[in-house]
Amino acid sequence: MARIGIFGAGWVGLVTGVCFAELGHDVVIRDIVPEKIEALGRGEVPFHERDVPELLERNRRRLSFTLDANDVVGCELLFVCVDTPPTYAGDADLSRVWSVIEELPPLPVRSILVMKSTVPVGTGAKVRAGLDARGLADVGYVSNPEFLSEGRAVEEFMHPDRVVVGAFEDADADPVAALYEPLATPIVRCDVNSAEMIKLAANAFLMTRISFINEIANVCEATGADVVKVAEGVGLDHRLGPHFLRAGIGYGGSCFPKDSLALKQLASNSGYHFQLLSAVIEVNELQKRRVIGKLKRHLGSLAGRKVALLGLAFKPNTDDMREAPSIVLASRLLAEGAEVRGWDPVVAGHPALGGVELVGSVVEAVQGADAAVIVTEWPDLRELAREEVRRAMATPLIVDGRNLLDPALTRAAGFAYEGIGRPMSPTDVLPETTEREFAPELNR
Ligand code: UDX
Repeated sequence: MARIGIFGAGWVGLVTGVCFAELGHDVVIRDIVPEKIEALGRGEVPFHERDVPELLERNRRRLSFTLDANDVVGCELLFVCVDTPPTYAGDADLSRVWSVIEELPPLPVRSILVMKSTVPVGTGAKVRAGLDARGLADVGYVSNPEFLSEGRAVEEFMHPDRVVVGAFEDADADPVAALYEPLATPIVRCDVNSAEMIKLAANAFLMTRISFINEIANVCEATGADVVKVAEGVGLDHRLGPHFLRAGIGYGGSCFPKDSLALKQLASNSGYHFQLLSAVIEVNELQKRRVIGKLKRHLGSLAGRKVALLGLAFKPNTDDMREAPSIVLASRLLAEGAEVRGWDPVVAGHPALGGVELVGSVVEAVQGADAAVIVTEWPDLRELAREEVRRAMATPLIVDGRNLLDPALTRAAGFAYEGIGRPMSPTDVLPETTEREFAPELNR
């Protein structure tokens, strides 16, 4: 069993730490925020992520939390799990990575620095040079990107599709690959640059699939096809597969928006215009705003209208609001003069939701509302098309931003329904909506 040091007690660092502890390793997690370290010491997890509290509790004797970088002395493997947010130029900000290199204490045992943070291609070579310049030529370097998605991170850590280990020296890759052997997963061993690119390319491809199906959805709306059926038919082709073909109001989260921008800038800083990725990003921006057009088509001006935003986190099973489409939607609705009420089962508030009245139940959110928008596909919302909700609303209109509901059942329950990329029905015309406002050519 190894002794593992982890820099950064954020989402990636903590998931990595508790999972390695579960596999039997001793893990020291170091962060610079005292409140975070104190809370973790008391067994409290500072974010909502399935299975992490249980793993933390079960492995407490193998886990320690510290503010002191010297406490990683004696660890053979030092994982870097700090954030790499975008700079004003859209590049990845590596200042936290550099702080870790500066703070590394003298290491008596031969250690390997393992980069889990998402970094631009070429970072490993720069870190290698930085280590050498600090007299740490004996410290190895490995790139070992994470591919975990929020809400399923522990399960994905324990059952990965693959593990990527990029190294300058085989001898450095061996102990890192050995950590993952119990997981019986394919291990892709490669050079450091390629490992860094695998992470960026995988994310970019997933985003491309989302923006692709969102554009198909928009064309479905203009032509009367149903994107849910289209995605099913497309996804059964074994060359294409069914994943990341859910049309909706666009991707958000801590990774996709940031990493797409970082890859775009990495390409342009190297003199290459990554046109396809630029289009993927732009489609996603427009997709978030299309809900406003849908609401206007049914309600006319949104000034003074009451709109309920149901689900605020960027996806279900997390309380993460980073780059959540709900933020853009709320802000656009407020700018149009609408009154916005928000509900989410785990998000209690967020500075970017100023002006939105947050309430504790779906029924409170839709009380007197002219429209309810499903922003995040929380399972509780599957039951939205019920009598109690219809009676509470001033106008029974549901805009289903995640295609969560069955359109026929929703309409049968007395609601006007509009999904993303789904055919309209004559029953979707609200009593006060004129023919002109509802003309099919405006259905975009
Ligand atoms: C993602 C990657 O999946 C993961 O490999 C990487 O390490 C970090 O970024 P995460 O941000 O947790 O993980 O979320 P994910 O489940 O991938 O969803 C990202 C966004 O795409 C969400 O906003 C989600 O609603 C949206 N999405 C996903 C779609 O709109 N349609 C889909 O078909 C899939």
